[in-house]
This record gives sequence, C-alpha cells and structure tokens, in this order.
Amino acid sequence: MHRLEKEKLPRHLAIIMDGNGRWAEQRSLDRVVGHQKGADSVRNIVRACREIGVPYLTLFAFSSENWSRPRGEVEALMALLREYLVSELQEMLDNDIRLQAIGDLSRLPKEVFSILSERVKQTAPATGMTLTLALSYGGRDDIIQAIRRIMANCRDGNLTPEDINERLFSMYLWSANLPDPDLLIRTSGEVRISNFFLWQLAYTEIYVTPTLWPDFGKEDLIQALLSYQDRERRFGLTSEQVKTGDG
Ligand code: FPP
Repeated sequence: MHRLEKEKLPRHLAIIMDGNGRWAEQRSLDRVVGHQKGADSVRNIVRACREIGVPYLTLFAFSSENWSRPRGEVEALMALLREYLVSELQEMLDNDIRLQAIGDLSRLPKEVFSILSERVKQTAPATGMTLTLALSYGGRDDIIQAIRRIMANCRDGNLTPEDINERLFSMYLWSANLPDPDLLIRTSGEVRISNFFLWQLAYTEIYVTPTLWPDFGKEDLIQALLSYQDRERRFGLTSEQVKTGDG
C-alpha cells in the first residue's frame, strides 16, 4: 500500500466484477457459491478502497441483461444483495461510506428496493467515500432515459436543443453526481465493456486482470492502482503537451 502515491489515485474507480460463475464451475460447485464468494470480495474491496482513499467506487453488480439469467440465479443474486445491505450498514456508518444505486431500480424486488432506499437515506450524510451499486443497469438504457428526459424538457420549453452539450447531457445520466471514472477494472480476463458506462468511459483507463472476482483481493487492487499510476493520461493531447501543460 505504501507504493501508492496519494495524489495519483483514481478519483473514481469503477469495477466490472466478472468470473463468479467460472470460479464455482472450476470447483464443481453451484454458480451461486461463486456469487457468495463474490459478495465477500465486494466487502473486502469496499473496505480496501476506503482505507486507500478512493473517493468514488462504483460496482457493476447486476446488469439490465442479468434479468434473463435462470430464475434461481436471479433470485440468489437478489438475496445476496439484500443480505449485503443488511450486514453492511454498521460498516458503512463506521467508515463514513455513502451508499447510492443507479440503474432501473423499479425492476428490483420490492423488499430489496425498500431496504436499498433505507440504506441510501441512512448513509446520505457520509462524506468519506461514495459507493455506487449499478443495479439493473445498462449503459444504453442510461443514455435512452437521459434523452427522454431532455426531450421532455425541450417539449415543455425548459430547454432548447442549443443548450445540449456534453456537460448538460452528463447531468441527465443516472451517474449525474459522479465524476467520470478514471480507472475501470474488469476481472476474469474478458476484454469488453458489456453495456456498462458507455458515455462515462470515454477517457477511462482500462485494466483487465485474469483473476476471477471471488479471488480478487486487496493486493490485486493495489496492482491495478499501481498500473494506473504508471500511465500517462493524454485526453487526446500529445505526450509533449501533457508534459508541458500546454494544451
Ligand atoms: C459476474 O459473474 C457477476 C455477476 C453477474 C454479479 C455480481 C454479483 C456479486 C459480486 C455478488 C453480489 C453483489 C453484491 C453487491 C453483494 P458471472 O456470473 O458472469 O461469472 P461467469 O462469467 O464466470 O459466469
């Protein structure tokens, strides 16, 4: 951890947690056991990010496409989410962690939605770290809901097409109160975005590790952050411009 430079940490770290199923299959276990282990990794990584000092952490916990998985698996994932929300309240309060959720939350089972809303309210004053769970989230859904609301505002005379720019558009996304991610980690070796933050990842550094999510721990996180610190972020400029600050 001492190898990390505080001033070079990502402000916003986003993670695609992948490989729970394969972790279980490699051990001839039910996929749900992989998700249970995955929930333990969530606990470890949230704690580690808070310790390290990452201000915003977003976890892609359930995609809009995940609703099409076998019913038993969806139910198990919802049960794990509920369990997590029950077990982690004290940890969040003790560590000044604010919880929020983005996605089409209307599709969540009522009980999960209600405990989630309660946790969001209970942790709202926290300022140490913002933990965002992307639940029933799809990047395309996000863009479409933003366009719908922008068009409704244009129709009602509150906006004109000329008002629309990148900044305004970002404000209509579910991630409106988050900075764009600086670093995206994807576990399990798949090199895809899988309909996660499509707009928000425009200039994000991407780190893919073969480690499966249930095996991903603090040391793996530190490796990813060290790799991020070694990169030069150019945002479309030349290396020379970045070095001289002339751009
Ligand atoms: C991907 O593994 C993971 C998911 C679809 C769900 C992520 C859920 C958790 C980490 C546990 C519960 C979450 C919380 C916040 C407590 P996969 O099933 O796609 O793995 P595979 O690609 O190997 O089949």
